[in-house]
Amino acid sequence: MHDRKPSLIVYPGTFDPITLGHLDLVQRAAGLFDRVILAVAAQSGKPGALFTTDERIAMAREVVADLPNVEVERMDGMLVDFCRAHGARVLLRGIRVYSDFEYEFQMALTNRKLAPEIETLFMMPKEEHSCVSSSIVREIESFGGDSARFVPPAVQRRLQERLAARAAGKGGPA
Ligand code: COA
Repeated sequence: MHDRKPSLIVYPGTFDPITLGHLDLVQRAAGLFDRVILAVAAQSGKPGALFTTDERIAMAREVVADLPNVEVERMDGMLVDFCRAHGARVLLRGIRVYSDFEYEFQMALTNRKLAPEIETLFMMPKEEHSCVSSSIVREIESFGGDSARFVPPAVQRRLQERLAARAAGKGGPA
């Protein structure tokens, strides 16, 4: 058993890009833990990334800049290895809608098998963010819609710039 209560929580994700739903969870965690590390997965296994890892990290850093106890770091490889390397015993996952549950349940139990000392903590974002995902935001902007209700202004600007560059035949991860 550990004799000290955890003061650090890791919040992993692809963040392609970070949304107001993610930010909502980061703010909640920052109010509960001394330190929050937002772990940006370099290899998410998801096809069709819009932003490179460095771009996703830069956007996340900009968005959490006013939260002094939140850091943003790149995560290569396994989540449990990242947590161990940072001395974290708690990781945060968001549950937005019921359909998130099955995937999250599987992931939490797998991570527990891999690292029994690490707990997964679930939190819910505000209802208004329960339908948001990074791919929905990318889709809205790609069809010329307005994603301002779902992402911070700096992220919307970068989305628009990237999509315009793509439409012109340049820009984006290799
Ligand atoms: N607000 C808004 N959107 C949210 C959200 C929230 N609070 N929480 C999740 N989402 C969205 C994400 O943007 C993402 O959208 P997308 O699919 O359109 O890109 C979607 O919901 C799924 O999010 P999530 O389940 O967090 O997936 P992810 O790809 O962002 O993160 C990792 C998954 C990176 C955490 C996971 O793949 C991982 O741990 N990888 C490391 C390798 C590893 O250890 N594997 C074994 C795991 S058991």
